[in-house]
Amino acid sequence: MFVIPLIQRKRDGGSLTGDEWRALVHAYARGDVPDYQMSALLMAVVCRGLEEHELAALTDAMCASGARLSFGPGVPPRIDKHSTGGVGDKVSLVLAPLAASIGIAVPMISGRGLGHTGGTLDKLLSIPGFRVDLSLDDARRQVERLGVAMLGQTEEIAPADRKLYALRDATGTVEAIPLMAASIMSKKLAEGLDGLVLDVKRGSGAFLPAVEDGLTLARTMVRLGEERHCPTVALVTAMDRPLGRSCGNALEVAEAIEALRGHGPQDLMEVVLQLGGEMALLAGLADDRPAARRRLEDAVASGAALEKLRAVVEAQGGDPLVLDEPGRLPRAPLIGEHLAPVAGHVAAVEPRVIGEAVVAMGGGRHVMEDPIDPAVGLVVRARPGDRVERGAVLAEIHARDERGMALARASLASAIAIGPEPPGAPLPLVSHRVTASGVEALA
Ligand code: URA
Repeated sequence: MFVIPLIQRKRDGGSLTGDEWRALVHAYARGDVPDYQMSALLMAVVCRGLEEHELAALTDAMCASGARLSFGPGVPPRIDKHSTGGVGDKVSLVLAPLAASIGIAVPMISGRGLGHTGGTLDKLLSIPGFRVDLSLDDARRQVERLGVAMLGQTEEIAPADRKLYALRDATGTVEAIPLMAASIMSKKLAEGLDGLVLDVKRGSGAFLPAVEDGLTLARTMVRLGEERHCPTVALVTAMDRPLGRSCGNALEVAEAIEALRGHGPQDLMEVVLQLGGEMALLAGLADDRPAARRRLEDAVASGAALEKLRAVVEAQGGDPLVLDEPGRLPRAPLIGEHLAPVAGHVAAVEPRVIGEAVVAMGGGRHVMEDPIDPAVGLVVRARPGDRVERGAVLAEIHARDERGMALARASLASAIAIGPEPPGAPLPLVSHRVTASGVEALA
């Protein structure tokens, strides 16, 4: 396929036809378009955007690059959730088993870490033995039997997104509304869903910090979903500070397990319960939000949600004992503390700096082939607004070596700002709800 004229046309502000997008995605997935040409085209899209017809064609072509999950009769409503990417965002690890434990079927296809944000797949892979490369048949059977499967894209499911996602991660081409929308919706639409809930992050740690951009992304994805007969709801949530405390793959799994035991950080649980409430409403399992929330809270309190995670870990080859003994998760050899240099009020905990630190410590990738160190990361105890004394522990550092420890200390010193006065209010945790009928401000 002759790609150069397509790159030039996009670079100069023109558009590609639906047939051109289909041919290009097909050829790239087959390996007939080199990464360097695809990255040039992606960069042109970052700079020039896509017209609506191009976005529709790209999304459909990426979805059609693989097979679709399909289910027989009798399977409960299938609803999934996906996030646009955050720091400390372990919501999927809590929500997938929780939703399944109240009777929602969750065929969850997730991605690896992207940029400074963590990925559900990398987190799951920190559980010894856990497999995310399920075949479509295995995933379908597991959803029918357990109500939930958590897997990555394979050659079978949205393979074009798998390749493009890794390429965007390594070429500075993540931050574009149409590319994010096509990436997320192509793999979600391949899941054969009855409904989809999206967590669109805003704030300094989000790929799209400005709320207007977050809302445009939310509206774009809701429209793509609805036009393809998948009822879609998006909540806009705060990413101006990390979500929960732990950032880093195994550390986040440990926090998710604690959350399913009923001891999750308040902000994490609030986001989980609000997204889960939307899933329950889409599934028709509750009449209103308070009822949906009660069902989810009961499933945590009864231990049903934790047992569902245990069943998933067992079914996917992981060590189920990690649920009782988190010490079985990978542990970094060096554990240190970052202390408050002065007394005062925590003015900011910059998620992007924290996320970049975890990547640099080995918990994420700089190039596509980088291996992941599952054990490293940070447990950030300081929250914006906290009053702290000099010498108080602001964060725990889990490092592989002294280089990682030093790097983490320097990053934490710039990420956590302490000032003399209490800071202004942080962003509301959940600020907007976007549906086919429009945007509702919640805060
Ligand atoms: N999550 C995805 O799956 N794709 C993106 O582009 C961003 C977040």
